[in-house]
Amino acid sequence: MVIKGARRVALFLVVCAATRAASAGDGPLPNGNFEDSPDRSQMDGSTVTGPDAIPQWKTYGHVEHIASGQKQGDMILTVPEGSYALRLGDDASIQQQLSVTPGTIYSVTFRSARTCAQNEKLSAWVVPGGAPDEVHVQTLYTSIGWDSYCWAFQAQASSVTLVIHNPFHEDDKSCGPMIDSVAIKTLYGAPQGNNNLLRNGDFEEGPYIAPGSQYGVLVPHRDERDISPLSGWMVLSYPNSKVVRYVRTPQGSYAVELVAGGEAALVQEVDTVPGSSCRLDFTVGDAGDNCVAKDQQPMRVQASTADNSTTVEYSSEGSGGSVRASLEFKPSQSRTRVVFCSTGYHSKSDSSGTRCGPIIDDASLVCASPTPAARRLLR
Ligand SMILES: *[C@@H]1O[C@H](CO)[C@@H](O)[C@H](O)[C@H]1NC(C)=O
Repeated sequence: MVIKGARRVALFLVVCAATRAASAGDGPLPNGNFEDSPDRSQMDGSTVTGPDAIPQWKTYGHVEHIASGQKQGDMILTVPEGSYALRLGDDASIQQQLSVTPGTIYSVTFRSARTCAQNEKLSAWVVPGGAPDEVHVQTLYTSIGWDSYCWAFQAQASSVTLVIHNPFHEDDKSCGPMIDSVAIKTLYGAPQGNNNLLRNGDFEEGPYIAPGSQYGVLVPHRDERDISPLSGWMVLSYPNSKVVRYVRTPQGSYAVELVAGGEAALVQEVDTVPGSSCRLDFTVGDAGDNCVAKDQQPMRVQASTADNSTTVEYSSEGSGGSVRASLEFKPSQSRTRVVFCSTGYHSKSDSSGTRCGPIIDDASLVCASPTPAARRLLR
């Protein structure tokens, strides 16, 4: 037993040393699950008292190392992965140094659950880099109380510090969102194909989804000023706390689930030739996650541009079916916005109340140049 234990320790050290030296690859960050034992000399019970207590991280403010099953008042705190998570209390933040490639875009995925307040926030940024971006932590999209969220940044140096911060001043210092499973993924930008004007129309390039995750990753509001964790696409929402969900389909590829009805749209803007003939083809389906169209009310997805729109009905049985649909239009502008949104609200048929919706996949936009006659008319 002793030998086995010693070997395990040795292996652990080798793995640690390897991850420390490696640059940010795709997957969990070193101790991104907070499973490594904290330095007890910098801990008071579950409360962190020194900045280096949590291996691989620096922490500031009121941070707690939460064990699954720990109680807070009447509430039992659960942890989605492994046995530990962190709670970021009043003005707390955690930081980790990342080795990255300047100019490259990275998406960061983390799990979070709120504890006391109805609506909590986390903000994320890198140094050097831009201003903090806020992510709203709600509990609407899974039954387990934890959701995965993502965020993206473009590296401006070969070493950056990732910061995740609770911007709220909590009345109760120990209140604040819990965080777990921090992971990273390199995005290569998904350039336009030969014919398809849309970038990443098959949604194969997006944030990291943990193997075996049944819920995917929520993508918050991201407009043209933001770096998108879903290459090529914006998520426009009103209010801006609404999201779409990036999911793995039963077929093993990726798609986007419209979980917020008409409050969040998936949008991409492309260059178009006025007067050309364009055709948008796309798939509407379900993620095979028991999101069933109830009471004879099919799911409805609206695909629109400034020049035409269509509403696709889909009667989901929640088992991963799909239909193919299309929209034809003649662009009147040199820039065209392609917009997908769901017009209804749906929840899973398992009575968990988990929000869900139709998925969009394999979108392509192909345009044929205007004929000489059409060109003359446009002049
Ligand atoms: C609008 O799209 C529909 C569906 O593709 C198509 O049948 C119709 O001709 C289009 N209308 C215009 C004006 O392009």
